[in-house]
Amino acid sequence: MQRLRNFLDHHCDNPALVTVIEGLMVACKDIAYKVQLGSLAGVLGSAEQINVQGESQKKLDVIANNLIKQALRAMPQVKGLASEEESDAVACNPDGEFLVLFDPLDGSSNIDVNVTVGTIFSVLQSDPGDDPTYESTYLQCGREQVAAGYVLYGPSTLLVLTTGKGVYSFTLDPRVGEFYLQRENIRVPATTKEFAINMSNQRFWLPEMKNYVADLLLGEEGPLGKRYNMRWIASMVAEIHRILTRGGIFMYPYDSREPQKPGKLRLMYEGNPMSMLIEQAGGKASTAFENIMQVEPTSIHQRVSVVMGSKDEVDTVIRYHES
Ligand code: AHG
Ligand code: MN
Ligand code: MN
Repeated sequence: MQRLRNFLDHHCDNPALVTVIEGLMVACKDIAYKVQLGSLAGVLGSAEQINVQGESQKKLDVIANNLIKQALRAMPQVKGLASEEESDAVACNPDGEFLVLFDPLDGSSNIDVNVTVGTIFSVLQSDPGDDPTYESTYLQCGREQVAAGYVLYGPSTLLVLTTGKGVYSFTLDPRVGEFYLQRENIRVPATTKEFAINMSNQRFWLPEMKNYVADLLLGEEGPLGKRYNMRWIASMVAEIHRILTRGGIFMYPYDSREPQKPGKLRLMYEGNPMSMLIEQAGGKASTAFENIMQVEPTSIHQRVSVVMGSKDEVDTVIRYHES
């Protein structure tokens, strides 16, 4: 079995990027250990603070954020970071080549019920003159990402990674603290009979999305001509992992609950890295109107409408929005 380090040395031609990914994994192994211990490590429950997103933070949101921040700040290769849990971008090392953007703990509503959560990350290259304290330094579109991935804290701890040459997954062996390559060149099937969406938001969706989901529910008797199954884990990281394993479509579309937010998910920490993984695996990622990785960011914390997964099904959603 191939170790992560060995794989990266052969697969990735930028040694500085290898060091960044390895450094991130040191922090993620620590998070995995704490997630596994749960209440024994006193990490469950609320931090009793509200983050910049206006969401109440769990203790593990704060712990995971601090562990990753600490790891990245210690790396000379990292110029700056932006996190879902930090109000502003954080400068790291002036000579660093990379910017790392991350969701330290995705699916945090699931922590206290012992359901899968994860860390999502996106790596961008910075220009030598860029100032890492400026938000504008980080506002590159998803197409510019040089690497993206997630670590899933589930029954096993997994790393799923792309550096732009396909998608690979690694399983952590907690006995030795090493990630081992398990799946190479992961592909998302083009078609699916499985969808994931939070149906409780239905009345707030655009009419086009309402029509599409109504037709999904009609099954083989409707215009889509097949019977669909539904899943909703409330951890994007777990939904995307299911899609990278057996196909499917994941949607967190625009809804009118809070009109100033075009979707719940964040472009830089969730939308872009997951889009890169899905596209690298042959799937598709869209806002329903444009490719997610082509959205020009205007703020590090901006929201985006998300439709991603099996290519043919995403194309169907886009068609519903064209008419
Ligand atoms: P986070 O825990 O980082 O705030 O993200 C949670 C996200 C995403 O993982 C998930 O798909 C979605 O929010 C769940 O939303 P609902 O609460 O609407 O189910
Ligand atoms: Mn998240
Ligand atoms: Mn989060």
